[in-house]
Amino acid sequence: MDLEALKERAAQEALTRVTSGMRLGLGTGSTVFWFLKHLGAHLADGTLTDIAGVPTSERTVDLCREFGIPVRTLEDESTLDLGVDGADEVAPGLDLIKGLGGALLREKMVATACTHFVVIADETKKVDALGMRSPLPVEVVPFAWRSHVPFLIDLGSEPVLRTTADGEPYHTDNGNLILDCRFEGGMQRPAAEIEAELRLRPGIVESGLFLGMADEAVLASGGGIEILAAGG
Ligand code: A5P
Repeated sequence: MDLEALKERAAQEALTRVTSGMRLGLGTGSTVFWFLKHLGAHLADGTLTDIAGVPTSERTVDLCREFGIPVRTLEDESTLDLGVDGADEVAPGLDLIKGLGGALLREKMVATACTHFVVIADETKKVDALGMRSPLPVEVVPFAWRSHVPFLIDLGSEPVLRTTADGEPYHTDNGNLILDCRFEGGMQRPAAEIEAELRLRPGIVESGLFLGMADEAVLASGGGIEILAAGG
């Protein structure tokens, strides 16, 4: 099975948790693409009705329009029944790294509003410890962004400014920059400590550490679907 087929399989499994009338948090990325596509098809054929979603990026807003999914904002819907999003790493305990797609800030805001937050991914995202596979995206305001580099190195990472294919600085939907922080061999300190230090630093807006936020992970492999539950 190729990766796209696995992503689609995970997305379809998550869709079985959606019932009519739900308000959804809608993530960002190539796995969520499949969720949106199938959700749109279920709305079109009447299998699901009265669904609305809060998208986590402008890209997801566009996909909702394309697939006929009604869009709301967090101002309209401060509590969401179910959130579905991808991840770059899924570690034991369902701690996550997210944000390689650049949507980490809105993703974290929307995930926080969700009563139940489900991560969908192919099996390659599963890791034994955070930072082994993916850099940690850290969103910073553009002002004096270079001033964070020594701080991020002291945290144990090698930060690199994210750029576009043209070599220009990548800007998030919020107009900020991203420093992708690679932790060689994975994070050597507890992720919660790293998260706490990042939170305290002015100019750092958010990190891609999603600790204790996911309730469930749906991981697709050639052998089938693996469901991981938080605390289970
Ligand atoms: C977007 O900012 C990310 O958090 C994505 O959810 C994450 O990068 C997973 O994306 P894919 O499903 O494309 O791998």
